[in-house]
Amino acid sequence: EKKLTPFEAIGEDRLHQLVDTFYGLVGQHPDLAPIFPNQFTEIARKQKQFLTQYLGGPSIYTEEHGHPMMRARHLPFPVTPTRAKAWLSCMKQAMDKIELQGPLREEFFSRLYLTAQHMINTPDGDE
Ligand code: HEM
Repeated sequence: EKKLTPFEAIGEDRLHQLVDTFYGLVGQHPDLAPIFPNQFTEIARKQKQFLTQYLGGPSIYTEEHGHPMMRARHLPFPVTPTRAKAWLSCMKQAMDKIELQGPLREEFFSRLYLTAQHMINTPDGDE
């Protein structure tokens, strides 16, 4: 028996639901909305590609955009500790809404927590 990747365990449809729900919340969050574009179509498309490979699915982000270098790609945007917290809070709410539960959720969220900390590039109050 082959062990499922987290991508297979969550499933493509639910991962896409998660991303769409997440950006719906980001668009309404007062700390986040100002640094995002008004239209979430393109960023949601890229995030679906990125999270697919992050969770062990096919490398569709890299195929289209090259090496992820996520920290470098975030440097043009002031990612403060407050914004990282807000990002994670939107993700938690999105996981609640799509009812992603159990160890799969816990492992996914703790990886995102670490990645979000790594994205911080600006102190609070400096943005
Ligand atoms: C792009 C904010 C964390 C994945 C972006 C953009 C912003 C942003 C403003 C650019 C939107 C645009 O195209 O105009 C933030 C903030 C974070 C955060 C405030 C708080 C810590 C993360 C994390 C991940 C992630 C943890 C992955 C797990 C992405 C991806 C893109 C992106 C895949 C698209 C990159 C591309 O252009 O190809 N983010 N982000 N972000 N972010 Fe984040």
